[in-house]
Amino acid sequence: MTDVTSAHLTADQLLSVKDAIETRRSIRRFVQEPMNQDDLREILRLASLAPTANNVQPTRFVVIQNKELQEKLQAVSYNQSQVTSAPAVIVVYADMEDVLSNVEETLPASMDEEQIKMRADRLRGQFQDQDVAQRGQWALSQANIAFGFLMLAARGMGYDTVPMLGFDPSEVKKLLNLPDHVEFAGILPIGKRDEEGFPHHRHSVDRITAWK
Ligand SMILES: Cc1cc2nc3c(=O)[nH]c(=O)nc-3n(C[C@H](O)[C@H](O)[C@H](O)COP(=O)(O)O)c2cc1C
Repeated sequence: MTDVTSAHLTADQLLSVKDAIETRRSIRRFVQEPMNQDDLREILRLASLAPTANNVQPTRFVVIQNKELQEKLQAVSYNQSQVTSAPAVIVVYADMEDVLSNVEETLPASMDEEQIKMRADRLRGQFQDQDVAQRGQWALSQANIAFGFLMLAARGMGYDTVPMLGFDPSEVKKLLNLPDHVEFAGILPIGKRDEEGFPHHRHSVDRITAWK
């Protein structure tokens, strides 16, 4: 099959940010070969560099490379076949309660004990008037940024993905033993494309931009 990009990309050929953005498209059928584990780890590392407010870092990943589990995940994802076609599926979620239980670990080691205590107390205080759902939504807006980084990091390293929100969140939580309070950014089947996907169909910049 012909690749949609001008040159076929292998995992060791890094794309520019512009090329990664332009060549990313949702791919739902993948080449049947396992993910290179170093590449997978590097993609997650790059996504972990996404910024978060106050550097709270609420994003968490579950990496699934297990056909049996992928079949169960597909069953609670409206039977969307990309979940089992992909060699790996990354589940991306925000866990703000985990952040608040371990605030200190988000603070740089260069701080002394007193500074760490002061900053940690201030951070905890910032969220004490919000309920679990409210701060969960706030954390989700941070995890969504990492979700975007993840797709572009993958594409930049020659991989393809499809972002997905078409699943039953409570069933996915049950399946993966995740606490009830977590909020999903989405799930991301990842691998090498075995189809071309659809060309981008997007608004013009002028349709979506006001210049003041
Ligand atoms: C948050 C989000 C959720 C999505 N959920 C699904 C999904 O459940 N199943 C699916 O096949 N595609 C899903 N998509 C893919 C979109 O249909 C796709 O991104 C859009 O049509 C644009 O196409 P492109 O990604 O090829 O540019 C989702 C995309 C986003 C951003």
